[in-house]
Amino acid sequence: SAVNTEPYRPQFHFTPPAKWMNDPNGLVYNKGVFHLFYQYYPDDIVWGPMHWGHAISKDLIHWEHKPIALYPDKNGYIFSGSAVVDTENTSGFGTKENPALVAIFTYHDIDGERAGRTDFQTQGIAYSLDNGETFTVYDGNPVIGNNGIKDFRDPKVFWDDQSKNWSMLLVAGDHLQIWQSKNLKSWEKVSEFGKNQGAHGGVWECPDLFKLKVGTTDEEKWVLLISINPGAPNGGSGTQYFVGDFDGRTFTSDQKEEKWIDWGTDNYAGVTYNNVPNNDRIFIGWMSNWSYARDTPTEKWRSAMTVPRKLTLAKHSNEYQLINYPIEDLGSIASNDFSESISISGNSQMVISNDNLSQSEIKFRTSARKFNLHFQNDDGDDLSLKMNGIEKLFVLDRTKSGKVDFQEDFASVQKMPIALLPEGEIEIRILMDWSSIEVFINQGQYVMTAQVFPNSNYSKLVFKNNSELDISLGQVTLDKIKSVW
Ligand code: FRU
Repeated sequence: SAVNTEPYRPQFHFTPPAKWMNDPNGLVYNKGVFHLFYQYYPDDIVWGPMHWGHAISKDLIHWEHKPIALYPDKNGYIFSGSAVVDTENTSGFGTKENPALVAIFTYHDIDGERAGRTDFQTQGIAYSLDNGETFTVYDGNPVIGNNGIKDFRDPKVFWDDQSKNWSMLLVAGDHLQIWQSKNLKSWEKVSEFGKNQGAHGGVWECPDLFKLKVGTTDEEKWVLLISINPGAPNGGSGTQYFVGDFDGRTFTSDQKEEKWIDWGTDNYAGVTYNNVPNNDRIFIGWMSNWSYARDTPTEKWRSAMTVPRKLTLAKHSNEYQLINYPIEDLGSIASNDFSESISISGNSQMVISNDNLSQSEIKFRTSARKFNLHFQNDDGDDLSLKMNGIEKLFVLDRTKSGKVDFQEDFASVQKMPIALLPEGEIEIRILMDWSSIEVFINQGQYVMTAQVFPNSNYSKLVFKNNSELDISLGQVTLDKIKSVW
């Protein structure tokens, strides 16, 4: 497909060809392709009647746009949800030879909402027998009705081996509900979680639940993702997680503190793929924030997805931490542009000019814990990252990063506590793609994702040593990343 060349258009992140996009939906692998459905409004660059847009990929990097998969119908707009492959034909929609791809989503009845009712969100299903090319909406919809819960949505369905059931996670305002089914059509509620746990600054959205091994040990834990809006640590929307156990019916966690998958302002509603062949847990998030998603300065389309990230679980100082780090294949579109060993004497700086900076990956390994990195251009814009190991804080400051005044919350200083960062050499890895920055510290132990809208390309990378002592950043590499469009 054609290269997207409008200002700010990401070149290696997924964006819709045109118009409004929000959450990733229906992430599932089937018959050789990864599906990416997404919340989509094809008539404007602001949120509106929701459809499921659709794209497919063989490698999660190069995407092929597909026609819209699901349209609003008599039950309502099509809100977020998931998709499964019904291998055993439990639903009877397909056959064992050609299992149905079943989409499970929320219906949002806008007339009900406008009339002031509270039961306007219900759950529906649709199936495809041609690997997502076309869908048939189930005529028994909705499969789960509503008894008056105002925010009741975002079904994530997966096959649970312990209970030999389909499990569905649903959010209900301030908590999670778990439902079960034998056939994807008839559902029973079996448990609840979270009324008194975790962050509650806003409504709970987009749940996900999966099992991961802890590091290289045999210990296994379940991880629950819950997006909340507002109430994120740096304002607006964000995604928290809980580490615990799931027995096939109930999720429990003795976690006391709040945990966040990403401390930047722009990684929301992220969920993981079902059915990935090697069992990797692959996560994609929406790279925006409800505080200003509708106001960002793009014209033809609005917003992008994060790069696909592999999730793993680690233990640092006896605490579980969810690690998220770009999938390995991303390396296949990177080509080295710059590589130099960089040392900076006390309180001085070093400037690298590079024309590919706006579409690049910067990587180094260092034991230094007090330095700043600035992305600058000839217009005087400055996006700054500050590593402060003494205060155990990492700060992303986009107040002077370019266009910031399109909405009052955008010009933020974003803080990330890095208390569990180990001593010694750690990797700093940064992905820049015209209007976004993703920072991965110690291979995904600490992550920040943020949108930026510089007045012109960032073309200078400034490394500042903020200590009296000389520091070494080791071998700093800058890779240009190819456009995937
Ligand atoms: C999250 C969300 C979901 C909802 C969808 C509507 O960003 O609010 O809870 O299903 O967006 O587009």
